[in-house]
Amino acid sequence: MSTDLKEKTSNPDSSNKDFATLEYQGKKLEMPVITGSENEKAIDISKLRADAGLITLDNGYVNTGSCQSDITFINGEKGILRYRGIDIEELAERSSFVEVAYLLIYGNLPSKAELDKFSTGLTNHSLLHEDMIHFFAGYPSTAHPMAILSSMTSSLAAYYHGGDGNQSEESLELDLIRLLSKLRTIACFSYKKSIGQPLIYPNNKLSYCANIMNMMFAVPTEEYYIDDEIVKVMNQLLILHADHEQNCSTSTVRMVQSSGASIYACISAGISALWGPLHGGANQAVLEMLQQIHESGQNYKEFLTQVKDKKSKIRLMGFGHRVYKNFDPRAKILRKACDRILDKLGISDPLLEIAKGLEEEALKDPYFVERKLYPNVDFYSGIIYSALGIPVNMFTVMFALGRLPGWLAHWKEQYNFDKKKICRPRQVYTGENARPYVPVRDR
Ligand code: CMC
Repeated sequence: MSTDLKEKTSNPDSSNKDFATLEYQGKKLEMPVITGSENEKAIDISKLRADAGLITLDNGYVNTGSCQSDITFINGEKGILRYRGIDIEELAERSSFVEVAYLLIYGNLPSKAELDKFSTGLTNHSLLHEDMIHFFAGYPSTAHPMAILSSMTSSLAAYYHGGDGNQSEESLELDLIRLLSKLRTIACFSYKKSIGQPLIYPNNKLSYCANIMNMMFAVPTEEYYIDDEIVKVMNQLLILHADHEQNCSTSTVRMVQSSGASIYACISAGISALWGPLHGGANQAVLEMLQQIHESGQNYKEFLTQVKDKKSKIRLMGFGHRVYKNFDPRAKILRKACDRILDKLGISDPLLEIAKGLEEEALKDPYFVERKLYPNVDFYSGIIYSALGIPVNMFTVMFALGRLPGWLAHWKEQYNFDKKKICRPRQVYTGENARPYVPVRDR
């Protein structure tokens, strides 16, 4: 079997001029080559099974495009990340999380009037139905806040419509606003529940990120002061996490949407996918790793020796990325933000020193260089969250709040796609061939 890409010039008027030819068992098959706006190419294999009786097999979807999308562009080799065409560095420096959420969901930066309307919507929908407050009492105080976040998000479907296909556009827009606003409230309430403090309701006078800090750290008995620099770094953290095209959780959201499930069920599924330590759970795993190195008094060079020993099964958490094979632009921004916020708060964190030492050693070690392993977004985010007083088990929840606009943008794109099909991959069966059922007495 051989494949090659070739330009077909015989049909210059056709919108699709590129074809890839696949030769299998003496038969030649032509498959259209789709070109993205940044000139990345994909072979459309959707007719392959019908034409040649073949499917493609791609463990971990390493080389599979599941959709065409207008939302986020990544070039892993050059370390580029753009939301709707705008560079992540520029957004992290100049924008706010709410503005970026709008950009991702609606495709363009909002006008002043659009932004005001959007922000007002978020302010007006921050409360939970009071009946839902009782749900928090049902969880043990030891519950992981991700478990609470995903189940409470799913519970929202009991209160709101959520995109069952019969909704007006306005009502659907309201579901997006509700999710953006209420998940923040759920996240903060789950933290208050875990430490046994009274719930602090959202405050309409505060900005989106200031409200997060207030709901998490204020107590009814005293004033709580929120520093502008902290609000800025919180905005940056959420912006940097806001979208990352077809990652595990986003693909999950799109996949669940393809079945027609409620938007609340889709987002809840995305939260569950994010929870794993190889995805959003990595920020928690990084801090635990740094703490463990610190407490054991282990030299970080010894730790790297363990990482390189495949038998140890230890990974350098916060390193490596499926897409970035040069550097993760988000990690570069966060490394600077980390220095800035620790300096501002007057914190000298030994974990930051360990992280910097690990990074320095790893970046010159052939094991990491050859495999193109660089710090990812999670390498420094945990140190910043810690400096802000956010406990380790809330790190992945913060990631979820950041990723939410991305999930919503992809949900909307999938929902509105006119040629949408239910996502249903194939498989190569490797189990037993047909055999008879044997009754238990004869086994
Ligand atoms: N430490 C040590 N070795 C590593 C690491 C690491 N962090 N990451 C990859 N490798 C090695 C891996 O053992 C393999 O080596 P070999 O070729 O000898 O078998 C090679 O590098 C390729 O790794 P892979 O697992 O095939 O790569 P992948 O693209 O499937 O995995 C990853 C990407 C992010 C899951 C992986 O790099 C990893 O586990 N990193 C640590 C967890 C982490 O920080 N995750 C956060 C990702 S960023 C946030 C997000 O988008 O969710």
